[in-house]
Amino acid sequence: MSLLSIKNLTYKVDDENDVKEIIDGLDLEVEDGKFVCITGPNGGGKSTLAKLIMGVNPTTSGQIIFDGEDITNKSITERAKLGISFAFQAPVHFKGIRVIDLLRLAAGSQISVTEACDYLSKVGLCAKDYVNREVNGSLSGGELKRIEIATVLARGTKLSIFDEPEAGIDLWSFQNLIKVFENMRKTVKGTIIVISHQERILNIADEIVVIENGRVKKQGSRDEILPELLGTSSASNIACNKLGGEQ
Ligand SMILES: Nc1ncnc2c1ncn2[C@@H]1O[C@H](COP(=O)(O)OP(=O)(O)O)[C@@H](O)[C@H]1O
Ligand SMILES: [Mg+2]
Repeated sequence: MSLLSIKNLTYKVDDENDVKEIIDGLDLEVEDGKFVCITGPNGGGKSTLAKLIMGVNPTTSGQIIFDGEDITNKSITERAKLGISFAFQAPVHFKGIRVIDLLRLAAGSQISVTEACDYLSKVGLCAKDYVNREVNGSLSGGELKRIEIATVLARGTKLSIFDEPEAGIDLWSFQNLIKVFENMRKTVKGTIIVISHQERILNIADEIVVIENGRVKKQGSRDEILPELLGTSSASNIACNKLGGEQ
């Protein structure tokens, strides 16, 4: 059964005197419990699609059905309540907020220190060193990214969306991040959508979706799509982005 069903979705913006179709009649079905990787050239519309699913951008036309319910006109908050989460590039924080506070906010309950530690271990952080740390500039980019991922895990929603989690982190953090996703693949029951150019993340996907010019260009199992992807011009794009991510 499809958890997420997107039908003939468009997102248009006024660009000077022109109307630009950023998402242009996109259809996509995401099955429950799958780990789906969305990839494709830069500017193809991947981040826009994620924002349309979360409700950050308004849909121009078409339909988004989540878990049997039409969410096309629902607010971000309503979608979050129905069970969609979106990993921002860095966790939201206020002065004085500790890692455990963020995890409790995400979980929506007073989770215990042990439970908080469990989420932190899942993202490869030595929990006792982090649980009471303040979320501020003393944490590295890779640590912040992993704390953000831990909050998504603590939310425990039916659908979690990650937009290029590898962006802007160093090689050491990148290798740990791959482990986090490999672990998530094994332990998380919900559906996961990761937008990524990384071959190692594509490699753990059940399904790969290639988005280009605001449409789904290809969709299929990893075994169907990945060899093709690595043998085409998109592969150089992947390689490029990989180098970019590892600098
Ligand atoms: N609000 C907007 N106004 C004009 N152009 C936009 C807007 N949002 C996105 N775009 C353009 O739409 C295209 C798709 O962007 P994006 O979804 O970020 O692509 P991707 O994440 O696949 O790299 C890009 O060319 C981007 O510049
Ligand atoms: Mg993007």
